[in-house]
Formats: sequence, C-alpha cells, structure tokens
Amino acid sequence: MRLVLIPLSVILLIDIAGSYFVVRHVANSVYDIELNEIARELLLHVTHDGREFGFNLSAEAERTLFLDEEDDVFYLITTDDGDILAGDPTLPARKKRRNGSETAYYDDVFDGKPVRIALLHSQPLVHPASEPVTIQVAETQGKRDRYMRTLLLQVILPQVLLILIAGVLIWRGVAQGLAPLRKLQHEVGMRSHLDLSPIHATDVPGEVEPLVGAVNDLMTRVDAVLGFQERFIADTAHQLRTPVAGLKAHLELALRETDFTQVQRALGHLYTSAERLSRLVSQLLSLARNEPHNVVANFQPFDLNQVALRATQDWVPHAYKKDIDLGFEASEKPVQLNGEAVRVTEMINNLVDNAIRYTPSGGHVTVRILQDEESAHLIVSDDGPRIPVEERQRIFERFHRLLGTHEEGSGLGLAIVHEIATLHNAAIALEDDTDGVGNTFTVSFPIPHAEQHQA
Ligand SMILES: Nc1ncnc2c1ncn2[C@@H]1O[C@H](COP(=O)(O)OP(=O)(O)OP(=O)(O)O)[C@@H](O)[C@H]1O
Ligand SMILES: [Mg+2]
Repeated sequence: MRLVLIPLSVILLIDIAGSYFVVRHVANSVYDIELNEIARELLLHVTHDGREFGFNLSAEAERTLFLDEEDDVFYLITTDDGDILAGDPTLPARKKRRNGSETAYYDDVFDGKPVRIALLHSQPLVHPASEPVTIQVAETQGKRDRYMRTLLLQVILPQVLLILIAGVLIWRGVAQGLAPLRKLQHEVGMRSHLDLSPIHATDVPGEVEPLVGAVNDLMTRVDAVLGFQERFIADTAHQLRTPVAGLKAHLELALRETDFTQVQRALGHLYTSAERLSRLVSQLLSLARNEPHNVVANFQPFDLNQVALRATQDWVPHAYKKDIDLGFEASEKPVQLNGEAVRVTEMINNLVDNAIRYTPSGGHVTVRILQDEESAHLIVSDDGPRIPVEERQRIFERFHRLLGTHEEGSGLGLAIVHEIATLHNAAIALEDDTDGVGNTFTVSFPIPHAEQHQA
C-alpha cells in the first residue's frame, strides 16, 4: 500500500501545484486584456504641442474608464525625463522601461495591497514623432482572486476527488486480493506439525500458486523423509530385538555355568552373537547414511577403475581364506565418473562380500569394469548357486534374505547397494552368469558429458 499511496500523494501534490499555475495564468490573461485596453485608451488622451506633453481626459470619461465594481484602478503617466503627466504619483514607477508596442504586465504591492500592473511605453498617437511616454495602470487583485478560486475549485477538486477515490479503490482491491493469503496463513498457522498433507490452494491469487506448489512439494519431501525414518526406526527396533535377546540368553547361560569349558563355549556363542549384532548395526547405519532422501550428495570426478581395484584388493585375504579365486578386470581406459568414491566403494564392498560369502569354496568371483558410449558398467560375477528368478527383485528389499542360506547376514547389503545406485542415477541388473552358472550383478553408471565433466 505504501508503494502505491506515497507516489499517488506525490502525483496529487504535483497536480495541485501545476493546476494552480495554469489557473493563475488563465485568470491573468483574461483580466490583463482589460488593463491593456485602459492603458491604450489613456495613450489616446496624451497630447503634444510640438514642445511639451499634455494630458486631456474629462472627468466623465475618466469615471467611465475606471468604472469597476470590484477593484480599485490607479494609473500614472510619466515622460522619460521623469515628469508626471497625470495619475497617482504614489504609484511605484518602474525604472526599467520597455520600448515597443507590446504591453508588459507584472505583480506589485501598492498601498499595502497586491496589485497587477500593465505597463505601456509608447509614443502618443497624436504626435508619433515625439518621445515615448510610460503609462502604468494598476488594479487590485479582487476579480482575479475570485476567478482563480472558482477555476481552482472546478479544476482541482475533481482531480483530488479522483485520486482519493483511486486510493480507496486500490486500498480495497489490495486488501481483497490479499484476503486469500490471510486465509492461507491462518490455515498453515493452525496446522499440527504432524500434518504434512498438501495445502489447498483453490482461491489464492495466481501469483501465489507457484509458492503454494513449492511449499506442498517441500512438505511431500519432508513427509517422505519422516516416513522413511519412522519405518527405519521401527525396522531397526524389530531387527535388533532378536540378536539382543540371543546375547542375553548366552550371557545368562555363561553366568550359570561353573564348568570352565562350558563357560568358554558360551562365551564363544556370545562373541558370535555380538559380531552379528555389530554387523547389523553397521549395516543399519550404512543404510541410513545412503538413504537418497537424507543425502546431500557431494559429487566429485573419480576413476571407477581405480576405486574398484582398491576395493577388490581389500577382499583378497578374505577370498584367499575361503579358497575363492578373486579376479579383477579393468577397462582399457580410465572411467571418469561424477559421484562419491566412498559410497561407490561401500557398494562394491557389499557386492563382493555377497559374492564371496554365498559362493562355496573353490569358486570364482570376478570384478570387471566395462565402458560403452553411454554408461560405465561395474560387474560383479560369481559361480555360486543361482538366485532364483522370482527372488531377483526381492533381494534388494531391506531385510530380505533367501531361505536356506547357512551364511550369516543382516539382509541389508543389497538395499544399501540399491540406495547408492539410485544416488548416482545408476541402474542395477541381476542376470545369470554368462558361462551358465552363478550370478552377475551389473551396475550401470551414466557417463557425464564432456562439458558437464569440465564444469
Ligand atoms: N552373490 C550372491 N549369490 C547368491 N545369493 C546372494 C548373492 N548376493 C545376495 N544373495 C542373496 O540375497 C540376500 C540378500 O543379500 P544382502 O546382501 O542384501 O543381505 P545379506 O548378505 O544377507 O546381509 P548383509 O547385510 O550382511 O550383507 C542374501 O541373504 C542372499 O541370500
Ligand atoms: Mg550381503
């Protein structure tokens, strides 16, 4: 409102000042004509006998000439030598004389009252060859003031009214336009912090719709994160309950046992349970850390060949212990990707861990990097027992494990792999190994375009 009403008031002031000067000019030009006529009439009565000036105006003519009901009119006729020919000698004489036939007009004060004066400097018509005389005709401003007041009222009043009405209309229009916003503010203010359903924006102004849309969008995302965290906490509590109960049972057993070898056995079980619990906790943390809704990704260029080689090398002792042949095949050229090398390493660790864990001793596990036009592929294959086709989707779900596996596991590894792939816009495929046995996990990363890469 301030942005509209302040300029509007300034326009109003400029308008009043402008109108005042225009009206004054109009009033003056109307009445100046009369003063000029009187001055020219007086000039007709200035005489010259060849030697000196005279002035000849009968009393009656003078009365008719200066007949004015409203204003007092005075005059003064002087020669250039300063001699007064006729009129009121107290009228202030103008020093600067104008020569020529044009009459000049100016405002002055006479006898304590503001007057308008017409000044004519010209040769008397009866003797055009003589010196010129100066005729001043002064008139009080009564008529002009009255005329100006009438004009001002007629001109300014409608304008003031117009601007006031415009102000009121704008005021009401803006207030009305903002009313839906106030309603919206009320609706959002009254909401419970648990209510993340979209705000209904049926009658908000069009300019505000994108804002409401953006807020709704944000709420949807916050809702998704909250939902994830809720499920995560519920799942975690559920999953932790069993191993913690097992831990407690083993502990109780050990406490009750007096035989040293039995205590040793119980402690052995306790250790295994604690290890399982520790794995579950670290996998849970990893799952939470890589949840795409929670991650602010800090992508950097890295070489997939190097990252995969380093991750695979770390598994060599483990594979050796289980008598598994762990191989690595890099692609010919470096594979530049945009992403987070730490998370990609975590992904490779989970895939290689599975391959070694679920492949029997004497088997083969190979990590391979391939690159084609559009994507870079990270391929982890083994020759262990195949994952049944109907299970190939479900193993990526949290806590889903195949029945009948004797290996320990928390069921989170592939869910983590899936999260990290999503974070990198990568696709995961699981196929039979090409040589007819085992499983092949392929993660395909999009290759950043050259210019994107430089940026
Ligand atoms: N290479 C593989 N060969 C055979 N079965 C596999 C392979 N990878 C995964 N699986 C099956 O998929 C299931 C889910 O794997 P995932 O890595 O998600 O969980 P996990 O290995 O059981 O637990 P962890 O979170 O400790 O890795 C496994 O329990 C296993 O049955
Ligand atoms: Mg696993």
